[in-house]
Amino acid sequence: MTQQEPAPWDPALAPADADRRLHAPAAARNRDAILSVLRSVLPPAGTVLEIASGSGEHAIHFASALPDLTFRPSDPAPEALASIAGWTTQAGATNVLPPLRLDATDSAWPGTLPPGETPAAILCINMIHIAPWAATEGLLRGAGALLPTGAPLILYGPFRRPGRPLEPGNAAFDASLRERDPAFGLRDLGEVTALAAAAGFGTPEVIEMPANNLTVVFGKQAGR
Ligand SMILES: C[S@@+](CC[C@H](N)C(=O)[O-])C[C@H]1O[C@@H](n2cnc3c(N)ncnc32)[C@H](O)[C@@H]1O
Repeated sequence: MTQQEPAPWDPALAPADADRRLHAPAAARNRDAILSVLRSVLPPAGTVLEIASGSGEHAIHFASALPDLTFRPSDPAPEALASIAGWTTQAGATNVLPPLRLDATDSAWPGTLPPGETPAAILCINMIHIAPWAATEGLLRGAGALLPTGAPLILYGPFRRPGRPLEPGNAAFDASLRERDPAFGLRDLGEVTALAAAAGFGTPEVIEMPANNLTVVFGKQAGR
C-alpha cells in the first residue's frame, strides 16, 4: 500500500457521538498492523502509558487484545479525554485506566502519573508530526526519565529518513501539515534518534508499516 493515510484525528472532522466518543477512521485502518508489532515489542505485563491517545480507540483495541497489560491513555485535549472515557465505558474495558490530561510540551508531565505508577512501556501514535517539535523533545525527555532499563518507547507515524526523499504521499501530507501550522511537519528519524540517545535510549528498531509509516522502537538503556 503506498497511499498516504489522511490526517488521523481531528475533532473538527470527527463529530462526537452523543456520549462524546470520537471516531478516527485512520485508527481503524492502522490498529491491527500496530497491534501485531506491539505483540512482539511490549512486555508481557505492566502498564502501557499512551501519549496522545486521541479518540481512545487504539487504547481500547490494544487493551482488549492484550488482557495481561493495563493501558493508561492520555491527551491534552478535553474532547479526547471525554472520548477515551466514553469508549472505555462502552467497551466495559477493565484494563484501561482513566485518561490523564497530559501535554508532552510540559516538562513536568511525568508528574502527571499517579505516585508509584511506573510505565512498563510508552506508546505514541501519530503525534510528533502534528505537534510542535517541543512535544517530541518533551516526550523523549519525559520517557527517558520515567522508563526503567530495557522498557520500550514506541513511536508510530510517517517520518523523514536520512538520505531518502519523502514518498509522494508523505511529501503532500507534510506540506498540508506545514500549511496548517508551520511548527508541524514530518520529523527526521535521525534527529529524533539523536534526541532519544540524549534521553537515554539506544539505537531504535525501525519497522516498515503500511502506507509509508514506521514503527520506531527505542529501548531504555541501563544507567541512563
Ligand atoms: C492525529 S491525533 C492522533 C491520535 C491517536 N494517537 C490516533 O492515532 O488516532 C494527534 C493527537 O496528538 C495530541 N497532541 C497534540 N499535541 C500534543 C502534546 N503536546 N502532547 C500530547 N499530545 C498532543 C492531540 O490532542 C491529538 O489527540
